[in-house]
Amino acid sequence: MRTFVRKTVEEVAEVAAEHVVQLIRAHPEMVLGVATGSSPLPLYAALSRRAAAGEVSFADVTAVALDEYLGLPPEHPETYRNVLRREVGERLGIQPSQIVVPDGATSDPDAAAAELERSLSHLGGVDLQILGVGTNGHIGFNEPGSALDSRTRPVVLSGRTRAANARFFGGDVTLVPSRAITQGIGTILAARRLLVVATGAAKAGAVAAAIRGPITAECPASSVRLHPDVTIVLDEAAAALLRVG
Ligand code: F6R
Repeated sequence: MRTFVRKTVEEVAEVAAEHVVQLIRAHPEMVLGVATGSSPLPLYAALSRRAAAGEVSFADVTAVALDEYLGLPPEHPETYRNVLRREVGERLGIQPSQIVVPDGATSDPDAAAAELERSLSHLGGVDLQILGVGTNGHIGFNEPGSALDSRTRPVVLSGRTRAANARFFGGDVTLVPSRAITQGIGTILAARRLLVVATGAAKAGAVAAAIRGPITAECPASSVRLHPDVTIVLDEAAAALLRVG
């Protein structure tokens, strides 16, 4: 596990972007696992600047979502399909047909989850998975208590996760879906490389638990320590509790 701590969110994004760029140069047709949420947005912005400067091309990259809300109408701007089309597809130049997202509008969530697993096998797995960390230590939408070998499945979101995501729904927690489809922890750990990005003081507790605490289902992010190729990039605020003790 390599851990980088940088002063600012921008520096975090640059370190993480360099990691992604190196890998895409080596594997232009790579499968990139993409997280939504706010943590990776500066990274996607940094990647888009580097793509615009001609330093890297995402034309042959396939992006795969970690998760998707269940029950939002397809045209809703906060479906992860739409978020990823905007933040990853349009910015980096990845066609919508090259962005794989579980079907959150389905009437059969189990089948949609199984379909994502099939797509992952068909693609040959994820080469690099970008991950954020929830304030409660979740990765994807694997809430505390999720089995470390869990696979892609429908899940119920915790109150804490819905409250944290209310900011994307005009601050109204009642508008945040209560269910989602997420890649399981076992699915995430099957990626060839993991790149974890966490910034801000609100993440300090979860980051310390993930890196210093026991590897446990109670802190899903701690599971990344079971993976042989993990890069963690933090700002000083998110790393603050690592220095204690
Ligand atoms: C997003 C995801 C979540 C987020 C986490 C952190 O696809 O799976 O695990 O990475 O909730 O969210 P932010 O970055 O918004 O703090």
